Amino acid sequence: MHLGVISLFPEMYRAVADYGVTGRAVSQGRLVLNFWNPRDFAQDKHRTVDDRPYGGGPGMVMKVEPLQAAINAAKQQLGSDTKVIYLSPQGQVLDQQSLVTMSQRQSMIVIAGRYEGIDERLIASQIDEEWSIGDYVLSGGELASMVLIDGVTRLLPGVLGDEESAQQDSFMNGLLDHPHYTRPEQLDNQAVPSVLLGGDHEAIRKWRLKQSLGRTWLRRPDLLAMKTLSDEQTALLEE
Ligand code: ADE
Repeated sequence: MHLGVISLFPEMYRAVADYGVTGRAVSQGRLVLNFWNPRDFAQDKHRTVDDRPYGGGPGMVMKVEPLQAAINAAKQQLGSDTKVIYLSPQGQVLDQQSLVTMSQRQSMIVIAGRYEGIDERLIASQIDEEWSIGDYVLSGGELASMVLIDGVTRLLPGVLGDEESAQQDSFMNGLLDHPHYTRPEQLDNQAVPSVLLGGDHEAIRKWRLKQSLGRTWLRRPDLLAMKTLSDEQTALLEE
């Protein structure tokens, strides 16, 4: 996937570009990241990227012309049909299914806002989708866009090995993940559940599914209410 990122702080993206699963995706060429900084498109000698809001009040708005020029430059490189995404608390709340849909695209342009945000007319004319990472406010869109980039990248073909397969994750089947254990077998007064030591793969699969169902029921009943359970899942939940 080719991602164009528009941000006043491109250095922040080292967090995804240089580390872990996403860093590996970049070095393998499965994720290509390009950056456009509105500051590089500012025309005045101070390279101004903010402007005062019409109507007054506290806070600034991202200056229109440098941002628009950065979006145009990104579109020129990635193609004019590339979806342009803006991260803001006013957007649709991101979930795993939306990440799956996004991961099937060839390219996207992601805009990280700063200050109070971007001019509403730019949202109307330039933005295809507005996404939020949750009902809280961050001081900029960079971290939010990195959440999106990380979540999408690990779904790209070949990025996770079999061992790490995304299919097993919380939410991929509409349920929370089961608990995980590693050595030692006994940690102070806590033992590893004995079924996991027995090597009966079918018993382990059932136990894990039951744990997933139980946790989801206890912690996120809203998820269960949305889901149609299989016969096996219904039986395990009622056991
Ligand atoms: N920018 C600031 N807060 C945000 C949020 N919750 N989601 C997406 N972008 C944001």
